[in-house]
Amino acid sequence: MAFLKWEEKYSTGIPSMDSQHQKLVQLINALHTAMIEGRGNDVMIPVLDRLVTYTTVHFNAEESLMKLHHFPDLDAHMMEHEKLKQQVSDFQTKVTSGQTSVSVQVLQFLKEWLLDHILKADKQYGGYLSARGVK
Ligand SMILES: [Fe+2]
Ligand SMILES: [Fe+2]
Repeated sequence: MAFLKWEEKYSTGIPSMDSQHQKLVQLINALHTAMIEGRGNDVMIPVLDRLVTYTTVHFNAEESLMKLHHFPDLDAHMMEHEKLKQQVSDFQTKVTSGQTSVSVQVLQFLKEWLLDHILKADKQYGGYLSARGVK
C-alpha cells in the first residue's frame, strides 16, 4: 500500500491544484519506495530534486492564481510557502552533502509537511477561487 494515500478530504475544490498535489504525493511515495527498497542516494537524490523543483512550480502556480483573484490571505500563504520551501531545500542539501539520509522520520515529516499545508492553508483558497470560476 502507498505510504501516502490521496483522499477526497484533501481536495481543495480546484481540480488543477488537486492534480498538482497528487503529483507531490506521488513524488513522496516514490521517495518512500526507494528508501524501503534500500536504494542508494543515486536513486533517491534525483527523486528529491524533482520534489523540490515541483514544489516551487506548484507554489508559484498557487500564488499566481491567488494574486490574479486578489485572495485576501495571500501574504500569509506566501510566507508559509517560503518556510516550506526552505525546509525541503535544507533537507535536500543535507542529503546531498551526506549529512543526513532519507529515513522513516524524514518521510513522515514530508507527509505532514504536505498534508498539513493542504488541510490548513490550501483549503482556504478553495471556496474563494472556485466561486470565481477557477478550475
Ligand atoms: Fe499552498
Ligand atoms: Fe498546495
